[in-house]
Amino acid sequence: MIRTAPYTRDLLPAALSNDRDASAFIHRFQFVEDLAREWFRRYGFQEIRTPIFERTELFTRGVGSETDIVTKEMYTWRDRAGEDGEGESLTLRPESTAPVARAYIQHQMWQRAETVRLYYIGPQFRRERGQRGRFRQFFQIGAEVLGGSDHPALDAEGIELVMGLLTEAGIPDLELRLNTVGNAAGRARFVAAIREALAPRAHELSEDSRRRLETNPLRILDSKAEQDQPLIAALPPIYDVLDEGCRAHFDAVRHYLDAAGIPYVVDARLVRGLDYYTQTVFEVVSHAPSIGAQNALAGGGRYDGLVETLGGPPTKGFGFALGLDRVVLAMPEHRAPEPQPELFVIYLGASALEPALHAVRQARRAGVAALFEPTPRSLKSALRLANKYGARFALLLGEAELASGQWVLRDLARAEQTAVPAETWLQHLLARRG
Ligand code: HAM
Repeated sequence: MIRTAPYTRDLLPAALSNDRDASAFIHRFQFVEDLAREWFRRYGFQEIRTPIFERTELFTRGVGSETDIVTKEMYTWRDRAGEDGEGESLTLRPESTAPVARAYIQHQMWQRAETVRLYYIGPQFRRERGQRGRFRQFFQIGAEVLGGSDHPALDAEGIELVMGLLTEAGIPDLELRLNTVGNAAGRARFVAAIREALAPRAHELSEDSRRRLETNPLRILDSKAEQDQPLIAALPPIYDVLDEGCRAHFDAVRHYLDAAGIPYVVDARLVRGLDYYTQTVFEVVSHAPSIGAQNALAGGGRYDGLVETLGGPPTKGFGFALGLDRVVLAMPEHRAPEPQPELFVIYLGASALEPALHAVRQARRAGVAALFEPTPRSLKSALRLANKYGARFALLLGEAELASGQWVLRDLARAEQTAVPAETWLQHLLARRG
């Protein structure tokens, strides 16, 4: 048997899943996606769909050549050379902020006076070590705000959206962690402070962190290596080396969050694993027991230099992405009930087939979720099937019903049935389904 590739999976209708793993039920994904679209509508975001793969350079430049994502996790290949030229290096997108920034430049959205608010829902690919809540193909719901303004109210608005959405999805025990990584100058001072603190103790660092001490010291704070942790804990907080402007920005974001009634904790070690961040960074974790060790549900921040790094004009940016797989894992089962068919049409005897097909069609045109199985079966077996599908009503059509013009509508949940006139059966159904 050929199975899915490691740490990828099928998302299935609940009824067709033999391991009954609710974290892979497609209706739970659809529920959160619908909720997200509604929240984006309210906040004035429009959808963007960028390609699943991009030129590799977009991520090495955008996400950063020393990040874990770029050094270890990308699915990259060289395209076959063809009429379009040399075979170039392509990569399955590991995230979508760089692609959205590329689209912003490519379509000259920077010429517009208004702030551009875009959202996306789709798969991302990272070659990570899989575990509960960590996959190689996973789904993100993300948003990016691009334009001329870096007003801290925009940062707070984005965070408010994420928290509102997660709260309405019923995710328990949410915690918002907030920090700042400052502007380029502040970060340069922080990097100098990291170098100064760690250089004498470089031999105690993990191999990756030793290399990063040379190439990109900020990324040492992403290290999961046990031996690095005490050294990271002893570093000075970045806040101390920031200039007035950066501190004012951070304080204003906190003020707006307070005003919106959104609680947070300041986490001085939070730098996020991607190079493009400036100023505000945040992460949302859940302490729900179902979620496990991979408890970061969402992350994001400000990235005022990214568009320029990718060849566009100076542009401010703020965004976030939430991990849909993890949100579904943390969401209580009752929050997203499985959609059930409303009607199962049963025909008994060949002469009832055509009238039954007509009845299903009528129901569907009236907006009713109606099921039909053309294979002939006994009444008993058909009712068993209707129950298995979880249908609320069954319409029974046999020779007797056709002859009398009185069709039988059965409420399967209550096990009651009534005879209704053939001409008005649909009105009866619509009135009863509530
Ligand atoms: P990120 O923190 O790398 O940020 O990913 C955001 C979220 O995606 C994580 O909090 C997590 O829930 C989910 N996620 C990441 N990797 C996996 C995985 N292997 N399996 C399951 N879920 C995963 C970004 O991607 C940035 N582009 C966010 C952003 C947007 N920043 C600014 N704008």
